[in-house]
Amino acid sequence: MITRKLVKATLLGLWAVILAVWLVYGIQSRAVGTLVSEPEAPEAAETSANQDDYVGSESCKACHEDQFKGFSKTKHSQLAQLEDWKDKATGCESCHGPGRAHIEEADPTKIISFKDKSPKQISENCLSCHAGKEDHNQFRRSEHYRNNIGCTDCHSAHGATNHPTQVGSITYPAIDSEDNPGTAMTKMLKVSEPQLCLSCHQQAKAQFSQPFHHKVLEGQMNCSDCHNSHGGFEVKNARLSVGADAVCVKCHTDKQGPFVYEHLPITVEGCATCHNTHGSTNPKMLKRNQVRQLCLECHTEILQPDLAPGVPSFHRQDEARTQNCTVCHVRIHGSNTHPAFFR
Ligand code: HEC
Ligand code: HEC
Ligand code: HEC
Ligand code: HEC
Ligand code: HEC
Ligand code: HEC
Ligand code: HEC
Ligand code: HEC
Ligand code: HEC
Ligand code: HEC
Repeated sequence: MITRKLVKATLLGLWAVILAVWLVYGIQSRAVGTLVSEPEAPEAAETSANQDDYVGSESCKACHEDQFKGFSKTKHSQLAQLEDWKDKATGCESCHGPGRAHIEEADPTKIISFKDKSPKQISENCLSCHAGKEDHNQFRRSEHYRNNIGCTDCHSAHGATNHPTQVGSITYPAIDSEDNPGTAMTKMLKVSEPQLCLSCHQQAKAQFSQPFHHKVLEGQMNCSDCHNSHGGFEVKNARLSVGADAVCVKCHTDKQGPFVYEHLPITVEGCATCHNTHGSTNPKMLKRNQVRQLCLECHTEILQPDLAPGVPSFHRQDEARTQNCTVCHVRIHGSNTHPAFFR
């Protein structure tokens, strides 16, 4: 009895494993398939259409002129010219599925519509081609996806043709089809950065309006210089590396170690331990009004010199001279020559 049960269980287990492997492999091979060779959106594929059901984008033009006009300026409209996309569904039908029945039977239900689809469902359609690219294959783990923000909350499926270039009293730079006739909005964004992001993240606008700030509102850098909207492994959708440091040292190269003498919080906790990365009321975008307040939050030892033999007693904080820590500890981000960061 026991052995029969065991055999049965083993066989069942085996099947489960095979099934699991097959499923995982199937899904993965779809996900990592190169962007350019992935044939069609999953919905289009599911309708088990044959080639004759596809009529090409030109056939849609007459009745959906607006969509066609926008679309024809996007990179999506150029797929048909690429060798890899020969004989595959391109154009409108790569997202909407085959269009013959819709046109011949004049039936609006005989075409894939996204009207009643959720942001997640729409995103799946896009990801059927886009998940292969490193920048996007983490989208499903992003805070955006989890909060029901989909691709078309930021991107216009057909390329934007009109949208505001100014918000409030600040003139933001915008590269768009109206400023540059004949070109599509960059990356098919609905609205240029940073307006796009600020439309949902109003708090960030206040932060970047603080006296000391990164010049995002002025157009000198973008939110996406530091964030990947498509998610990733970092906290707060930051680009690259632990503690969001790599993103900072991309521009602030002099802060990039390794140094012979590292200041531990920088390597371990990152720049945001001491700086407000968007903006601050304090000089150098520091988290505290006075530099020493910042230092003393960690270096309580210097207030008790007898407990910390390495700290000279003149660190007493009743004298102005010793309050300005970075007058002496100049290389606060790390030094190659002095363990107490003097030079
Ligand atoms: C002869 C005119 C005609 C042609 C050609 C045509 N359509 Fe339509 N289409 C319509 C009409 C009418 C509707 C229903 C009214 C509406 O929603 O605009 C519609 C609806 C749609 C919808 C649904 C809109 C929604 O979400 O409710 C989509 C998507 C669509 N068409 C895509 C296409 C595509 C892709 C093509 C080319 C393969 C195409 N159409 C060709 C007339 C046409
Ligand atoms: C990259 C995928 C994609 C392509 C390519 C595409 N569409 Fe769409 N289409 C969508 C999505 C997604 C929506 C839903 C509306 C939205 O979220 O912007 C939509 C909506 C529509 C609608 C409903 C009205 C509207 O604008 O919301 C029509 C009609 C339509 N598309 C026609 C077309 C035609 C015609 C083409 C080709 C010229 C085309 N689409 C190409 C994804 C696509
Ligand atoms: C049929 C496959 C396919 C589908 C479905 C698809 N895309 Fe694309 N998309 C591509 C390819 C291929 C490119 C060009 C890639 C390149 O040049 O790197 C592209 C380019 C883009 C670009 C870059 C445009 C630029 O100007 O650089 C954006 C943004 C984009 N797609 C968004 C979307 C969104 C949003 C959806 C869903 C509504 C979607 N795509 C659906 C294949 C697809
Ligand atoms: C929160 C807003 C947001 C969402 C959601 C979003 N994107 Fe983007 N996307 C951007 C911005 C901003 C850029 C331009 C800056 C950059 O490359 O990061 C961009 C760039 C792109 C590009 C061009 C990348 C390149 O290297 O040229 C593609 C392709 C793209 N997005 C596809 C998608 C797809 C597919 C989805 C959904 C799975 C999506 N995006 C969701 C904001 C968004
Ligand atoms: C100089 C790099 C940089 C720029 C530019 C930047 N961010 Fe950030 N942002 C960060 C870092 C780093 C964090 C994580 C901060 C932390 O941990 O204290 C963050 C955090 C955030 C958060 C999470 C805030 C929270 O309290 O959880 C949001 C939302 C955000 N940024 C949106 C934006 C928007 C919108 C823009 C453009 C208007 C933008 N960021 C521009 C670096 C940047
Ligand atoms: C349609 C609304 C919308 C747009 C547009 C949008 N976001 Fe978000 N974003 C959200 C929501 C909702 C969340 C999750 C809740 C929160 O943290 O506020 C979020 C979260 C974030 C976070 C925090 C992630 C975390 O781990 O806490 C960052 C960073 C961020 N967005 C950056 C951006 C950037 C950069 C842009 C522009 C390219 C942008 N967002 C555009 C709605 C939006
Ligand atoms: C795209 C380039 C870029 C990135 C990425 C970047 N910065 Fe900056 N940062 C600048 C520029 C340019 C300035 C100075 C000019 C100004 O006032 O905007 C600046 C100024 C600063 C200042 C103030 C300097 C002063 O003298 O007042 C601090 C602090 C700072 N950045 C920290 C950071 C941190 C922390 C990060 C990562 C979260 C970061 N930066 C990411 C470009 C960048
Ligand atoms: C332990 C706290 C601390 C950490 C962590 C920290 N900083 Fe600073 N940073 C400071 C202090 C304090 C100043 C002001 C120095 C002064 O008063 O001269 C400063 C000044 C700056 C300045 C402007 C002056 C200069 O030296 O160029 C930049 C830029 C800067 N930091 C970038 C960064 C970056 C990038 C990181 C992460 C790699 C980082 N900081 C991490 C404390 C810190
Ligand atoms: C987030 C906590 C934190 C902050 C803020 C901080 N430090 Fe440090 N600092 C440390 C740690 C941890 C070490 C390593 C201590 C060790 O190795 O025993 C260190 C090391 C040092 C050293 C090297 C001497 C030693 O004990 O190795 C000096 C000097 C120093 N810090 C000065 C400062 C100054 C000046 C400031 C303010 C600008 C500051 N620190 C801000 C945590 C901090
Ligand atoms: C007048 C110059 C000066 C000022 C201002 C100053 N220090 Fe120092 N600090 C020193 C000297 C000198 C040493 C001993 C360095 C050594 O041992 O090589 C030292 C040592 C330290 C050490 C321990 C280093 C070790 O090797 O153990 C810490 C931590 C430290 N200082 C933090 C601070 C903080 C925080 C402030 C601001 C409140 C500050 N210092 C202000 C000159 C100064």
